[in-house]
Amino acid sequence: MAKIKAVIPAAGLGTRFLPATKAMPKEMLPVVDKPAIQYVVEEAVAAGIQDILVIIGRNKNAISDHFDAVPELEGRLQQKGDHSRLERVMKSSEMADIHFVRQGEPKGLGHAVLRARTHVGDSSFAVLLGDDLIDEHETLLPDMIAAHERTGAAVIALMRVAPEQIHLYGAAAVETTDVDDVVTVTGLVEKPSAEEAPSNLAVIGRYVLPPAVFDVLEHTQPGKGGEIQLTDALQELASAPDGPGVVGVVFDGRRYDTGDRVDYIKAIVQLAVDRNDLGSDLRPWLKDFASRL
Ligand code: UTP
Repeated sequence: MAKIKAVIPAAGLGTRFLPATKAMPKEMLPVVDKPAIQYVVEEAVAAGIQDILVIIGRNKNAISDHFDAVPELEGRLQQKGDHSRLERVMKSSEMADIHFVRQGEPKGLGHAVLRARTHVGDSSFAVLLGDDLIDEHETLLPDMIAAHERTGAAVIALMRVAPEQIHLYGAAAVETTDVDDVVTVTGLVEKPSAEEAPSNLAVIGRYVLPPAVFDVLEHTQPGKGGEIQLTDALQELASAPDGPGVVGVVFDGRRYDTGDRVDYIKAIVQLAVDRNDLGSDLRPWLKDFASRL
């Protein structure tokens, strides 16, 4: 397949994280010492994607600034001979070809994805939610790209969640295929109650989509929460008899929704413990802390 582009929607309001997100996008909240969105960009780059479009909204200039070069800061670090920090600072502006487009009003994830149409054109593309972190050791995105290349279908990532959690996600009705961890998606419901949910397989923030999804999004009406939902557009693709169809890659690895406060704290603790430069200081403290709970 020709090289695919990635789209990172980052124009949501981040209401779950107010007041921290009043003037700062949630995608810029630091996870240890990098903003959440940088991990997401690094994941796309690791999967071989070089062209990345970030969908930004109100108060989102911090995101474009973060991926820009800062010559004064770089010059100062150079003078001080602080090469490791210099390298880390320059990485964010050099690692990929990063573009931005504004959503205007946050009318929902489906609406945000539709804003990518001009940039993406008539090609398949990946969508990575800017607040959803997948551990760097996982191969979810390459697995999804491979599933798309095999099937031509829209590929979504699914994760099993507890029944009392499913109302926070889109939920999928599925049938097994002869490939382990790959399912055919026969239906999708956005944020169902536990009783309405067709399964406990929740849609998480990675997608590999054919361009046909844009035509569907053009006429998708506002759904749950009055927002244009990507899930509703994918439900239409899943039920169209002549369309590309939808398949799911079932993921059971490490993933954090940094837009959720508890998951955000878990992400910081887990990633810091794993780091060579921080883990040895943090681990004994954490053990002691946990023993006193
Ligand atoms: P969320 O539903 O997690 O984002 O959207 P939100 O609306 O900002 O969160 P809360 O519920 O108010 O706290 C998932 C992703 O889609 C983007 C968000 O930025 C996030 O990365 N999004 C959502 C948009 O880009 N535009 C929208 O209109 C909605």
